[in-house]
Formats: sequence, structure tokens, C-alpha cells
Amino acid sequence: MKKNNPIGLFDSGIGGTSIWKEINKLLPLENTIYLADSKNAPYGLKSKEEIIALSIKNTEYLLNKNCKIIVVACNTATTNAIKELRASYDVPFIGIEPAIKPAANNSQTHTIGILATKGTLNSELFHKTSASFGNIKIIEQIGHGLVQLIENGDINTPEMFDLLKSYLNPMIEKNIDYLVLGCSHYPYLIPQIKKIIPSKIKIIDSGEAVAKQTKKILAENNLLNSFNDNVEHFFQTNSDPKVLKSILDNQDNVIQEDF
Ligand code: SIN
Repeated sequence: MKKNNPIGLFDSGIGGTSIWKEINKLLPLENTIYLADSKNAPYGLKSKEEIIALSIKNTEYLLNKNCKIIVVACNTATTNAIKELRASYDVPFIGIEPAIKPAANNSQTHTIGILATKGTLNSELFHKTSASFGNIKIIEQIGHGLVQLIENGDINTPEMFDLLKSYLNPMIEKNIDYLVLGCSHYPYLIPQIKKIIPSKIKIIDSGEAVAKQTKKILAENNLLNSFNDNVEHFFQTNSDPKVLKSILDNQDNVIQEDF
């Protein structure tokens, strides 16, 4: 495997670009390929078997493009499929799990909130992680409908605001002091969320931690790219590229292709 082979990332759609942005900030010399499987979004409502099959399809595509590492930039795919992916392929996989640990370790009210998809909150991996913080009350909320609205580009709409209010107000009433965003789509909602929750509640997402872990694993495998005078990024979507383009500030390397 060569150092200038790309980092491959996939998500059920455009949300994983929040992870891509953190990786690109920390590792600006790395080539990347980002797969947005928007045609099959949301993953959060699918069965474990379906999520595994879609994750395998995305992985195969990225491996055919010679990716040196795969970042599963989707909480639902990580919590349901990363074990199977790691068992089936030789490349390193980086997953994204809800950042329960820093929230639980720093909570003063011993009560934290997590907003995530049904697929993530129902997964074995999530149950195992949350059970290890027995002294902390974890208020779980499924973000029904949020991914679909984000995929449609309806981020700053009254419908989104009302939906978020209905999910966040009960958590605020239960005295959470940390809100964990357990879906890679949700960081795009932070400006809206900040209008609803008091400023004393801290918001945590996993983007920076995933970028650091990607760097660490690349370094351990001697795959960090330290010289690159022609950095290339490709974004592939199997749906209308309009929202993906706008979320990436209209980069011209967004390709629509079925996969
Ligand atoms: C979804 O497709 O339902 C959301 C993806 C995620 O959990 O990050």
C-alpha cells in the first residue's frame, strides 16, 4: 500500500462530510475519496443485516479505488457493521461512535443527553458503551426525521427547528449538562441547536476525535502522507449532488455516479 493512496470515507449520505472536514483540517496532505450513499439514506431505520450489506458495498467500492484506510463516517454503520468489516478485510477501519465517554466523565449533573438514530441507539455496541457508565443517567432520544431533512437540504427551516425543540426540551428539563451528537449528520444542526439549549449545556460530536484516531492509525501503519504537491479530493454521490455540493461550498469535484 502506498502513502499517497487515498483515505476512503463513506456515510449514508452527506453527514459524514463533517468528519471529512476534520480529517482534511488535521491531515491536509492526504488524498481522499468520500462516498455519499444518499440513495439508501437513512441507514438508521434499516435492519442490521441491511446496514452490513450496504457497508460492504461501500467498502468494496473504496477498496477498488485503492484506499489505504476506510473511515466509516456514519455512526449507524459503525455501531452495526464495523466488526464484520474488520473481520472481512485487511485494511484498517476507523469508526465513529457517540462521544459518551468525555461527556460522562465531565458531567456535573450526572445526566447527559444523546441524540442519535434508532439504529445506533438500539445497537449492541452502544448498549455496551453506555452500560459502562452506570453512575451516569443517559437520556436517549432518537432523531426521527432529522437525517431526511438534512439530506433534502432543509437545515435552516422552521420544520427542523420545531422537530429539534421537541427532542431537546425534554432533555433540558431532565437537567442534562452535555448533549452528545451521535450521528455524523447532526453537527450541521449545531447553529439551530444552540438557539434551543441554554449555553451551559455543552455539545459534543466525534469529528475531531475521529480525525486524531485516523492520523494515529495511519502513522502506526507507516501510511501517513508527508509530501503531496497535488492533493486530490473526490466526492461521489449516488443521488442529486446539489446538497452535497452546497455543504462543501460548491467544490467542483463532486461526481454523481451509481454505486
Ligand atoms: C442515518 O443514515 O440514519 C444516519 C447516519 C449516522 O448514524 O451517522
